[in-house]
Amino acid sequence: MDVLKIKGGKPLTGKVKAAGAKNAMTKLLVASLLSDKKCTFYNVPNIGDVDITVNLCREIGSIVNWDKKTKTLEITTPELKTTYVPQKYSGSNRIPILMIGALLGRTDQDIIVPTIGGDLIGVRPVDLHIHALQQLGARIEYREMKKEGAYFAQAHSGLKGAIITLNYPSVGATENTILAAVRAKGTTLIKNAAIEPEIIDLILFLQKLGANIMVDADRTICIQQAHQFLEVEHTVLTDRNEVASYAMAAISTKGRVFVEGAEHLHMIAFLNKLREIGGGFEVKQNGIEFYYEKELCGGLHLETDVHPGFMTDWQQPFVVLMTQAHGTSVIHETVYENRFGYTQMLKEMGADIELFTQCLGGKQCRFASSDHDHSLIVKGPTPLIAKDTAIPDLRAGFAYVMAALLADDVSTISSVDYLDRGYEDLVEKLTSLGADITRVSKESPKKKAVLNTLLSEPQLH
Ligand code: EPU
Repeated sequence: MDVLKIKGGKPLTGKVKAAGAKNAMTKLLVASLLSDKKCTFYNVPNIGDVDITVNLCREIGSIVNWDKKTKTLEITTPELKTTYVPQKYSGSNRIPILMIGALLGRTDQDIIVPTIGGDLIGVRPVDLHIHALQQLGARIEYREMKKEGAYFAQAHSGLKGAIITLNYPSVGATENTILAAVRAKGTTLIKNAAIEPEIIDLILFLQKLGANIMVDADRTICIQQAHQFLEVEHTVLTDRNEVASYAMAAISTKGRVFVEGAEHLHMIAFLNKLREIGGGFEVKQNGIEFYYEKELCGGLHLETDVHPGFMTDWQQPFVVLMTQAHGTSVIHETVYENRFGYTQMLKEMGADIELFTQCLGGKQCRFASSDHDHSLIVKGPTPLIAKDTAIPDLRAGFAYVMAALLADDVSTISSVDYLDRGYEDLVEKLTSLGADITRVSKESPKKKAVLNTLLSEPQLH
C-alpha cells in the first residue's frame, strides 16, 4: 500500500554503494540446493526477490541464517523436506522453475513446481527450459490443476549428459540446464547458451561447489558431472542494473554520482552508449563516477540484446534519459516483445514517444512479423510534468522514479513493492543523493489517526 512522493528538479550528487545482483543471488540460492554442504554468501542484497527465494528454499528444507547488517547469508540443505514447491509461490517471480533443474539431480522423487510469474513484459514461455531438461533425461509435463497449472518433473533413472542447442540464448533456460547438468552423468554441452555476467557468477559458484564447467567464446558451455561437493564461500557480483539506474538518474538530473562497486567489465555496452550521447563517466579504482558534462545529444540508434549487448533491463530508464537529449533517437527492443507499456505514462508526463511494430534501425529481430510494439522513436528534449502513476513492472518502476525526479512538481508513485523486489534501500540511497523523496504508508496515517482518537477518548485513560 506504500507510495513514493517525489518532488523533482534536484540534481543527484554524492556516492552510493551498489548492492549484490538480484539476478545472481536468487539463482545462487537455488544452486546451493544441489548439495548438502554449507554455502556462505557475502554482499547479499536485502530485496524482496531474495526474501521470496529464501522462503522457497526453507520450504524445501534449507536452514538459512541471513545477517542483513553484514549482508552475509549461510544456507545448508542437509536433506530435502519436500520436492513440491507450494502453490503459493505460483506467480511470485521466475525462480520456482529453476528448482526443477536443481532438484532433478538431487532426488529421484517427483518434483512439482507451480506456474511461474515475473514482470508482464512478454509471454515469457519456458519451452526452452523444459526441452533442455527433457534432453537430459527428465520427464516433464504441464498439468492443469484446480486453480492453476503446475509442472510435474522426474528423473527416476537419473539424468544423463547431452548436447543441447538452445534456439535462443535464454538466461533462465541456460541456468536451469547448467543446474541439472552438474549432477547429470557424463558431460553436457549447451550450445548458443546465454553468457550474462550473472551466469558466469553462477558458474564460478558451481566450480567452488565441485563442478567442472568451461565457457567458450562461441556461447558453448561444457559441464562435467560433479562427484563431490564442497563448502563454499562466495561474494555475489554487483548489480549492473542498479549501477546503470543510478548512472542514468545522475546524468538526467544534471548531477554527479559515484557508484561504488560498479564493475567496468559488466558495463561496457552501457558506457559506449552513454559516451555516444555525451554522458560523462570516469572509471575509478573501486567504482564508476557518472556525471552530466554537456547537453545530451540524441540521434542514437539502440538495440537491446543478450550479453554482451545492451541489456533489455537498461532500456526503460534509458528512454527516460533520451527524453532529455537533443534530437531523435530510435530504440529497438529485441529481447521482450512487450516491454514498452510504460511509455504511455511517460507520454502523459510530456515525453514525445511514438511506438512501432516494425524493427526500426536495420536488424530484423524475432518479433519482426508480430504485431507487438517493440520499436520506438523518442524526440527530445522535453520537460516532464509530475503525475500520479502505478508501477507496472520493476524496471519501468525505476523509469517512473527517474521521470518523477525530472518533473518540476510532486509525483505520487504506487505499487512500490515492484521496486522493493529489486532495489535495495532505494529511498535511503536517493535521499542521500539529495532527492526529495518520501515513502508514505497509505495506511499508517489512518491507523495513527484512529489510535489518536482512541487515546483521546476518556474511557481509555
Ligand atoms: N524465452 C523463450 N522460451 C524460454 C525462455 C525464454 O521463448 O523457454 C524468451 C522470453 O520470452 C524472452 C527471451 O527469451 O523473450 C529472454 O528470456 P530469458 O529466459 O533470457 O529471461 P529470463 O531468464 O526470464 C532474466 C532476468 C530478466 C532479464 C532477462 C534478460 C531473472 C530473474 N530475470 O529473465 O530480468 O530481463 O533475463 O536478460 O534473472 C529484471 O531483473 O527486471 C528482469 C526482467
